[in-house]
Amino acid sequence: MTVQDIIVKKRDGGELSSAEIDFLVNGYSEGKIPDYQMAAFLMAVYFQGMNFSETVALTRAMIGSGKTVDLGSIHTPKVDKHSTGGVGDKVSLVVAPLVAAAGVAVPMISGRGLGHTGGTLDKLESIPGFRSDLSISEFKSAIRRIRLAIIGQTDSLVPADRKIYSLRDVTGTVKSIPLISASIMSKKIAEGIDALVLDVKVGKGAVFQESLKALKLAKNLVAIGEEFGKKTVALLTRMDEPLGYAVGNWVEVKEAVDCLKGATVSDLMEVSYALGAQMLLLGGKVKSIPEGYQRLKGCLETGEALKKFLEFVENQGGDTSYLGGTREYPTAKHSIEVGSSREGTIAGIDAGLIGRIAISLGAGRREKEDEVDPKAGIILHRKTGDWVGKDGLLATAFTDLDLDIEEIKEKILSAFNFGESVPGGKGMILGVVDRERVRDWIVT
Ligand code: URA
Repeated sequence: MTVQDIIVKKRDGGELSSAEIDFLVNGYSEGKIPDYQMAAFLMAVYFQGMNFSETVALTRAMIGSGKTVDLGSIHTPKVDKHSTGGVGDKVSLVVAPLVAAAGVAVPMISGRGLGHTGGTLDKLESIPGFRSDLSISEFKSAIRRIRLAIIGQTDSLVPADRKIYSLRDVTGTVKSIPLISASIMSKKIAEGIDALVLDVKVGKGAVFQESLKALKLAKNLVAIGEEFGKKTVALLTRMDEPLGYAVGNWVEVKEAVDCLKGATVSDLMEVSYALGAQMLLLGGKVKSIPEGYQRLKGCLETGEALKKFLEFVENQGGDTSYLGGTREYPTAKHSIEVGSSREGTIAGIDAGLIGRIAISLGAGRREKEDEVDPKAGIILHRKTGDWVGKDGLLATAFTDLDLDIEEIKEKILSAFNFGESVPGGKGMILGVVDRERVRDWIVT
């Protein structure tokens, strides 16, 4: 077997065997296959795709490149949630404590910001003292005691993904359904869960703007999960405008905490409840989705979800005095108010553009080594469907950087579209993909 033969086979549209895929993944992780050959292979997959058996083989080979977490000694049902990435997407911060408060354990291994989308770890690390680098035994102990821990990927968990993802990032091969599927699912399967709920975003701020591609990704993810014996459901959710009002790191933590205290942020809570109810159903805590909603609403109203969040933050070293309002968070050097250039109804807010502007303010990384500024970000004061008068406040941007303030205002303003007809009435949840919908894909 030679690497060249495998590259040529895929380039010409052939189907690879598991042995060929193992050979490539192992060789690359062990440093025996150079970047240029792996890059050529990834580009061949980008154009030719992979069928389901090949995608499963790739997922298996990636899992086999490292260790897996064994949570078998914890008998509470263990269900994770994963998002394909959005702007203002602080759903994990809301749903994880809600679900844990309702009795299902949430062992979450999260990522940092990618491209224009934010990352749960960067958000949590904006809380002074918060540690996302728990050891696996600390992680297990937290799951056992409080049913919730959120940590970063360890060096030993799916090391092949880390290496392959870095290469994809610089070779234009990120947006490939089989490569994304194997990358996400290898990490989720390796973390020792019983079930998984996926939030596959669709729209201007998502990896896939087209719903058919997002649906295909959702089907692949669910079919792979089921193939590995994990109950898996994917919701397709809208990501045309940012979720909620806050985009950044600390501002998003603050908004999530406000929601756990009962604030109404309707799009964020609609997605959080929908995913959370699926998590309770898969975890066997409720018998139906409506019962799941009821249970979660109860946990919010009684304050149990907020209590769980504070318990979790404290357990990971975070200073909860900033969350309870007893201590003021530091403010950014510049606070830039963006007023509307006209009066009218907002027909849309470009999530992708807002995400990119937030990064330029310091809320994300342009280069891998960049430091993230926890205070940087944008707070929207109006959302799609809202009316604004001329000069009415649309958004406030926060940054420590000495940027061109007029340019920032103009860019933010250009993300707002005005119009007579507002797309509405569709709700945030565009579809549900479960085992039944992918049955014919699953090789039994
Ligand atoms: N997130 C991942 O973990 N992997 C991808 O390939 C894309 C998003």
